[in-house]
Amino acid sequence: MSEHTRDPISAQRLPEEVKLEERLRPASLEEMVGQDRIRENLSVFVRAAQERDESLDHVLFHGPPGLGKTSLAGVVAQEMGAPLRTTSGPTIERAGDLAALLSNLEHGDVLFIDEIHRLPPSVEEILYPAMEDFQLDLMIGQGPGAHSIRLDLPRFTLVGATTRAGLLTSPLRDRFGWTARLEYYPAEDLERILARSARVLGISVDAGAMGEIARRSRGTPRIANRLLRRVRDFAEVDAGADKRVSCELARHALERLDVDDAGFDRLDRMFLQALVERFDGGPVGLETLAAAVGEDKGTLEDVVEPFLIHKGFLARTPRGRVSTRLARAHLGLPDADRVTPRSQLDML
Ligand SMILES: Nc1ncnc2c1ncn2[C@@H]1O[C@H](COP(=O)(O)OP(=O)(O)OP(=O)(O)O)[C@@H](O)[C@H]1O
Ligand SMILES: [Mg+2]
Repeated sequence: MSEHTRDPISAQRLPEEVKLEERLRPASLEEMVGQDRIRENLSVFVRAAQERDESLDHVLFHGPPGLGKTSLAGVVAQEMGAPLRTTSGPTIERAGDLAALLSNLEHGDVLFIDEIHRLPPSVEEILYPAMEDFQLDLMIGQGPGAHSIRLDLPRFTLVGATTRAGLLTSPLRDRFGWTARLEYYPAEDLERILARSARVLGISVDAGAMGEIARRSRGTPRIANRLLRRVRDFAEVDAGADKRVSCELARHALERLDVDDAGFDRLDRMFLQALVERFDGGPVGLETLAAAVGEDKGTLEDVVEPFLIHKGFLARTPRGRVSTRLARAHLGLPDADRVTPRSQLDML
């Protein structure tokens, strides 16, 4: 396979992976690993709401893909003992679609809107009174005879999820009682997640191999699970009769999968290389970088950049993207300020 046709590990999910993710999804607060602050807060808010016999306040989960936003929506419903109704921003095209959804809710239901930043503005406006006062404003008729009526809604909990909190309008953001940002997971948490996944999938994995996969998973449970399955494929072919994933096999497989020591995949490296080598470390605009690596700007902003920033390889400045010393070191280049500028070389 050529370098360019190989999928980066952070790539989009295939349908069979979506199905598998459902199996691996933590179903309760107990099963959910890491994100301690969110788990602790959630458990307090749930208990308080239950003691007051009220619905839980609306909550917004945001953060990079694969960190557990959808899983948390399910956990909220499970903890509240309420059914979860799921929809997403791009699938609600007209205000009437959302009005129908809302008017079919029952007291205490949890409505999950994924990719909530992609709701059309006319639909979003319906949400404001629904979230704030549990009221639905409906327009009846058209032209001069048109008038609006107000309907009471049951008290429900809206759970919103987004990878782009910055794109939410402030009236919408302000109507959430609680906003929680998911963070990248430390390797210890990912090891626990991997141990559970290996158990569920019936894969035998050495502790060292688990550590190796965890360390190179971009702090992301979805990627850890993805790498576990791909490493298992190598074990099926290369390991002994017991198909056990040893540390050595994991390391070899991860190399073959193009995941480097820092957990960066091909796209991460292409991005860093373009920034450091072609644009001299920046500052350079995201659009220019997107064109240079042949990748969609949104993917870079959602997937690639947050992790590079988290690891301290990249900074966003008002003038554009800038790489750090760590980035040069990772690519095996000397520090920029130790390189003799060409102008000085010419004078020698
Ligand atoms: N805290 C966790 N504990 C255990 N497994 C987790 C956790 N968070 C995520 N996972 C695993 O990672 C997978 C992806 O998580 P999830 O779908 O909730 O991410 P997401 O934030 O909604 O991603 P996206 O932004 O792409 O929708 C889940 O199926 C689950 O297997
Ligand atoms: Mg999700």
